Amino acid sequence: MTTQTLQTTSFLTDFRSMSTFGATPGGGVDRQAATSADGQTRNWFRGLVEGHGFEVRYDQVGNQFALLELVPGAPYIAIGSHLDSQPLGGRFDGAYGVLAGAHAAIRVASLLTSEPQFNIAVINWFNEEGCRFKPSMMGSSVFTGKIPAEQVLATTDPSGTSVREALEAIGTIGDFSLDVAAYLEIHIEQGRSLEDDGLTIGLVESTWGANKYEFVVHGEQAHTGATLIADRQDALLGASALVVAAREVADDYSTDEHMVITSCGEFNVFPNSPVVVASRVNLLVDVRSTDAAVLAAADAELHRRVSLIEQRFNVRISQGASHIWASKAYDAAGLALAASCASALGLPHGVVRTLAGHDSTNMKDIVPTIMLFVPSAEGISHNEREFTSDADMLAGVDLLTEVVSRVVAGEFVQP
Ligand code: GLV
Ligand code: MN
Ligand code: MN
Repeated sequence: MTTQTLQTTSFLTDFRSMSTFGATPGGGVDRQAATSADGQTRNWFRGLVEGHGFEVRYDQVGNQFALLELVPGAPYIAIGSHLDSQPLGGRFDGAYGVLAGAHAAIRVASLLTSEPQFNIAVINWFNEEGCRFKPSMMGSSVFTGKIPAEQVLATTDPSGTSVREALEAIGTIGDFSLDVAAYLEIHIEQGRSLEDDGLTIGLVESTWGANKYEFVVHGEQAHTGATLIADRQDALLGASALVVAAREVADDYSTDEHMVITSCGEFNVFPNSPVVVASRVNLLVDVRSTDAAVLAAADAELHRRVSLIEQRFNVRISQGASHIWASKAYDAAGLALAASCASALGLPHGVVRTLAGHDSTNMKDIVPTIMLFVPSAEGISHNEREFTSDADMLAGVDLLTEVVSRVVAGEFVQP
């Protein structure tokens, strides 16, 4: 076998091994943050990279750092993504990027042609998905100083287990810290634009803005049959109206140039019993757009609708935690470097924006960052049927390897 064939085989073999952790009958994975399936995947990853000479460390919120020293004492560039998943999620979201980062680093170390200027850290960020513990992008939010570590460690899941307890239970918490000079991430697109345009690589130029809110609709528990309509304070009715209002805001505020996307992803009814009018509903609503002004207008309308729903349905709606990020550009020089690497490898590429949040959404706010996409079949994601072909995954690893080798040589940032 040639070196290239060996590398190709080993990436795909490793990807298939990784996908067995938390595997679901429908072909996906369920590896919510700091569950035993997440812990098993983290341990498997540790074993894999230690076998290639990396040292593995954990920081105070369970971010996993795989360190490959090329030049003792030199600063680090980081490549990262996440191994956790949504419940019944796909095999590719996040996990592809962590494994691609490790393979790119291994290849760069074995093919070094000039004196490297940087060491490499491959980072598996803790809890990117934000399902068991909220908010999403938790580990990278602490790393970038957006959320205090103590707040994250005290955050509990629905059964009352804290992040600290869950991380201690899977043994992936420490006190390591690292400064990085630049950040690189590769991820599946989770949309359909690359496939529609016949492209293999997306060079991510900017993020959409996103405003995510936890709302609580408060009503009054009552008998569903015996309570007159006029006397009801039905939290479920108010929450349902809010879900519909969110969709109407997307329909009414999208323009030809700037789309608005809204959704309710989580909805919990209390006490959720057959003959009981709900006393409370907790729900999560998010509003996203490419344009800050359009997003602000849609957001204001959503909040106006909240007040109208309170009056119309005789409920009270309070707003809990929010998680907000702005529509913002990635580093232009990084985009140009990635484009030049894709051209050199003959990979069809184009510029895209990311609707979804990623750890790079946080990282780009503190260090020069490059974000790359490979196609998602039919744009399906957060679904067991999520799929990216072997050929596209391998093309992404080739591109990432080329980008990492040029970044390590000092072509993006200076040591
Ligand atoms: C990620 O956290 C997202 O909401 O896109
Ligand atoms: Mn992801
Ligand atoms: Mn995801």
